[in-house]
Amino acid sequence: MTRLLALAAATLIALPASPAAALPGTPGAPGAGDPYFPGQGNGGYDAGHYDLRLDYEPSSGRLSAEARIAARATQALSRFNLDLVDTLSVSSVSVDGRPAAHAQSGSELVVTPSRPLAAGRGFSIVVRYGGKPVHVIDPDGSRDGWIKTSDGVFNANEPQGAMTWYPGNHHMTDKATYRFTVTVPSTRVAVANGDLVSTTAKGGRTTYVWDSKEPMASYLATVSIGKFELADARLGGYRVTTAVDPKLAGDAAGFPERHAPMLDYFGSLFGPYPYSSTGGIVDHAPEVGYALETQTRPIYPRVPSDALLAHELVHQWFGNSVTPALWRDIWLNEGFATYGEWLWAEHAGTRTTQESFDAAYARDAGDAFWQTPPADPGGPENLFHAPVYDRGAMALHALRREVGDAAFFAILRAWATEHKYGNADTAAFVALSERVAGRQLDALFDAWLLKPGKPSL
Ligand code: ARG
Ligand code: ZN
Repeated sequence: MTRLLALAAATLIALPASPAAALPGTPGAPGAGDPYFPGQGNGGYDAGHYDLRLDYEPSSGRLSAEARIAARATQALSRFNLDLVDTLSVSSVSVDGRPAAHAQSGSELVVTPSRPLAAGRGFSIVVRYGGKPVHVIDPDGSRDGWIKTSDGVFNANEPQGAMTWYPGNHHMTDKATYRFTVTVPSTRVAVANGDLVSTTAKGGRTTYVWDSKEPMASYLATVSIGKFELADARLGGYRVTTAVDPKLAGDAAGFPERHAPMLDYFGSLFGPYPYSSTGGIVDHAPEVGYALETQTRPIYPRVPSDALLAHELVHQWFGNSVTPALWRDIWLNEGFATYGEWLWAEHAGTRTTQESFDAAYARDAGDAFWQTPPADPGGPENLFHAPVYDRGAMALHALRREVGDAAFFAILRAWATEHKYGNADTAAFVALSERVAGRQLDALFDAWLLKPGKPSL
């Protein structure tokens, strides 16, 4: 019996004339199942490409936008969700060119196509929407998303800001390629991830097109807008595209040139830099208080120190190319990026990695710091707690001392290579380490990653 007939028999419906309508499908799940952010992401389909067309007016804060998404159904779908906050209003949705019913509730946009989508089928979604985007407040009290500044937008989306400005499947396990077409008044610049494709001015407005050709998780997307000095040059073999707030131009002198030496060094350790361009966005946003490793082009609230630059560049390998599978694996991002700071300091001759380790380890055993095991910091309010960064980096250093430099750097390189553009969790890192080292490392990882308390040396 064919699958179609089996389904028809099981559900006791007559076989309709059109085979597409024969599969009733079921609704896609409203979340990807991440315990830290249960509503984030959606089930039933994979997004493959986002073509985002944004028109933004900084003076009114109004966004008028169209998102074109290429997706593939992973089950027979009667309807599916996209993540988008309902403070933005959706005026129309179509699926494969046919108008689709839609409803908004909280941060879920529920789309019911005019006919069900068969499992495995590719389909296209077009969402027209607009309004005045606002950032979200995270469980730890910080803000992320579309953060307005005096001259535009500081757009950083870790862990949940993507839903504040475009509809999508916003869990990090659903990576996609992107094209951004952003129109702003010509007094402003719009900077996004990937390669600058074109800049077209017309009638006092300028359209910037950016192409992000390598897969990217939603939390790493950015469209930042402001009064920026844009520079795009080939430096040391990299395409370095930077946007610097003119207020910071003096401090930022030499900023583009600082990238190639660091990328060369980290590339020699982890394997070639995984993206077709690099650079950074240097905004003046002291109120934001953090930088983010937005893919290819990190965003900084000030001119970065060497440590901060090293941190965000190392994230391009660890976090961006190899991305965690769940938010609780966040140490795989922050522990690695912090260790990257230590490696850069050692390379630059300012401080050895052992000295960095010793300084972090010197915290008193009674310090609350030691109560948070980095491999599951206990909830979304602790995502960016110090132990995730420092104890995560200490765990890597402890591993290095245990297995020796050759095995340790082979592990880092294999991690970057084997999971390039993918997702992987802590268990996979432990398994890889044991494979490369050729022995069990449970005791070490238990003490450093999983158990509360200060590990003994
Ligand atoms: N991943 C960033 C960094 O360490 C930090 C992001 C913090 N985000 C937040 N919403 N507080 O480079
Ligand atoms: Zn970081």
